[in-house]
Amino acid sequence: MGVHLRMTKAQEATRAYHQHLYARARLFEPGTWLEKPDAPLVALVHARFAHAKHVRVLDLGSGVGRNAIPIAHIVGPHGGTVTCIDFLDIAIAKLMENAERDRVSGVIDGQVQDFESYAMPDKAFDLVIAYSALEHGVSSPENVTQLIRSIQRATKRGGINYLGMTTNVEERDVARCTIVPSEMAVNMWYTEAKHMLEELYTGWEVIQEERTPYEERYIKYGREILWRNDFLTFSALKDIRSISSSL
Ligand SMILES: C[S@@+](CC[C@H](N)C(=O)[O-])C[C@H]1O[C@@H](n2cnc3c(N)ncnc32)[C@H](O)[C@@H]1O
Repeated sequence: MGVHLRMTKAQEATRAYHQHLYARARLFEPGTWLEKPDAPLVALVHARFAHAKHVRVLDLGSGVGRNAIPIAHIVGPHGGTVTCIDFLDIAIAKLMENAERDRVSGVIDGQVQDFESYAMPDKAFDLVIAYSALEHGVSSPENVTQLIRSIQRATKRGGINYLGMTTNVEERDVARCTIVPSEMAVNMWYTEAKHMLEELYTGWEVIQEERTPYEERYIKYGREILWRNDFLTFSALKDIRSISSSL
């Protein structure tokens, strides 16, 4: 197993941060962002898909299953599946352990893959999630747009895209009171990301667009860092009436 990529510095930083976190923190235990799933996402899946048959979900940059496992509980009983893509061996190994423990391993298909090279099948999914994923792991900013276009093509008509993007990132060395350069693959301004999504999703029905401030302290290269950002949550329905046939 394992994905061998020529990685950018930002992708290397993403890998190192997540490898360390997944090795030490358990899913749904308090103390990190793995503590709970994204509640609006789980509520949306309940509202739209709880009674639907054979729902197909794709979770790009799934991590250890924070959202995928609760979703598997909802769609699994009616023959649904959740395909999870992450480029870290440890993420997919822990995802499958967590799924086994939660008795949803038959619902989840975990794949160690780079989402930039994953060939998404056309019009295959009822729900595609990229939650706090694209901006952390793309090799260039232009690839965010390309990936979103692939996500749109991979969505069935009447299906939903659910995206969460970290924007306005500021990292501050606590002791020195200085800003440290961010190692995010793509650090967009909130308004810039919002406009990008509004443009890309012209013709779709926007369900949710929300800004949530977030902060956490963590250790980077032995120094305490205060991380702040504005998180953009955006979801939209592929409207069967108004969308061009090319998507
Ligand atoms: C901030 S975490 C979010 C995990 C999950 N979506 C959640 O909300 O719990 C970002 C995840 O994306 C994965 N990732 C980043 N870049 C990736 C890439 N190019 N291909 C696949 N996975 C990637 C990381 O390994 C990590 O698990």
